[in-house]
Amino acid sequence: MQIRVVVDQPWVAAADVLAIPVIGDPAFDGPLGELDRRSGGELSGLVAFGELPTRRYYRVVAASGDLPFQRLVVVSGGKADEFDLETARRLGATAIRRLVNRNAHTMAVWLDPVAEGLGAAISDADAVAAAADLVTRGIVEGGFEPKAIYREDTDAAPPALDELILVASTGDRAAIEHAAERGRIMGEGANIARGLANRSANDVTPQVLADEASSLATTYGLDIDVIDEHRAAEMGMNLFLAVGQGSANPPRMIVLRSGEAGAHDALDRRLALVGKGVCFDSGGISIKPAARMEEMKMDKTGACTVIAAITTLARLAPGTPLLAVAPAVENMPSGSATRPGDIVQALNGKWVDILNTDAEGRLILADAMTYAEQLGATHLVDVATLTGAVARAMGHLVSGAFATPDPWWAEIAAAGERAGERYWRIPLVADYRRSLRSWYGDVANIGTAEGGLVQSGLFLEEFRTVPWAHLDIAGTAYFRETTQYAPRGATGVAHATLVELALAGAVKR
Ligand code: BES
Ligand code: MN
Ligand code: ZN
Repeated sequence: MQIRVVVDQPWVAAADVLAIPVIGDPAFDGPLGELDRRSGGELSGLVAFGELPTRRYYRVVAASGDLPFQRLVVVSGGKADEFDLETARRLGATAIRRLVNRNAHTMAVWLDPVAEGLGAAISDADAVAAAADLVTRGIVEGGFEPKAIYREDTDAAPPALDELILVASTGDRAAIEHAAERGRIMGEGANIARGLANRSANDVTPQVLADEASSLATTYGLDIDVIDEHRAAEMGMNLFLAVGQGSANPPRMIVLRSGEAGAHDALDRRLALVGKGVCFDSGGISIKPAARMEEMKMDKTGACTVIAAITTLARLAPGTPLLAVAPAVENMPSGSATRPGDIVQALNGKWVDILNTDAEGRLILADAMTYAEQLGATHLVDVATLTGAVARAMGHLVSGAFATPDPWWAEIAAAGERAGERYWRIPLVADYRRSLRSWYGDVANIGTAEGGLVQSGLFLEEFRTVPWAHLDIAGTAYFRETTQYAPRGATGVAHATLVELALAGAVKR
């Protein structure tokens, strides 16, 4: 897809489709009025007919009259005072997804309304560039179609555009181009994570995930180390091994590095991203009910996200120091599986009482976090589909987060805002640590029924000594239903947040 920037009014461009964002109630006095006149009153006619309510992601295809486009696609951004970065991005995705199975090879997008909508949120000078970044990212993300992973699907996919034309009446062309390119790379990174996460467990075993990471490492110039079960045993990664030992597909600890070994970034951090890679979570001996167990192929999404995030960083700011550690396992019941009540010594030396084999994510993350610290990490962020509780509490649009200390949380929250992603922080209530007490070990992997979500954070906290944050994406990692802006399946959530966090320490070259 070629990206071209036109600094002019939207009726000057030409393409198969023009996407017209409308934020707030449409006002036909300015350039939208000119578009309406040139369309032969089509837009105001739609409004009069009630076909264009001010409702987020409401979208309609309209005739173009004398405008140099075959069709218009008008997308509502909802109420002006509720417009934000996330909405801007999803506007782009909505526009392209409205065109599934349509004959469009080129699309122009009018950026002015998006920039104006963002103007309140970010400084005006940057608003056009931000609009270009977010809309392009949205269009790339909206173009992702999981139905096409295993077959050539002809009637489900959004059009693969030859050219995207971004039209803004003001702004610096080079700056807009640069921003759009950044948005494209962000979107492509999210799609790498989604492509891997959506693949089935008979396809993506821990070894296959490691192979995929290796080929990405080769393409983007990253260092990679894949630790097999024998080396992991010598090193003492017993929690990681305990989860994987029930499966015929052996575990793999995938370690990716950008920048020089041991190097610190521009903020003097050695940041490590840790991602839960449970290629299938049956629950193990504490087996899950049958209903929707198939969704547990998605339990590797955290790993896919950190693998994708480090490749995106390598594209946007090559050479910036970053570690990505992705423990990949299959959690299966068998004669060799871990039993409830097994006592296992973690890589950091603590003895863990595995009371429930379905609370496996925290076990593999614990060893991966310790290993990241052994590699010199000064700051940790882990991302995981960790608890059903977070999905029940916050649904599919808000990820849960834990962090300590507070200044580190402030940086995570700021990165999330720059990325246009939503997080809500859950407290690490120290008084609840007592519920994780174990008779035989130092800590149990589950506690009492109440406060299970907080306990998941408290358990992980036992395995870090540096600033750390935990992002629980169990509710947000995949959609069960198709929306206006995304197909059913993996969403790519948290990828952009992690990249933004790493980019804060980008090395200038
Ligand atoms: N992978 C699941 C969490 C999950 C649930 C992800 C639903 C996506 C959708 C995790 O390993 C798990 O089984 N968690 C248990 C923890 C419990 C045993 C303490 C849960 O949430 O029920
Ligand atoms: Mn589980
Ligand atoms: Zn799991």
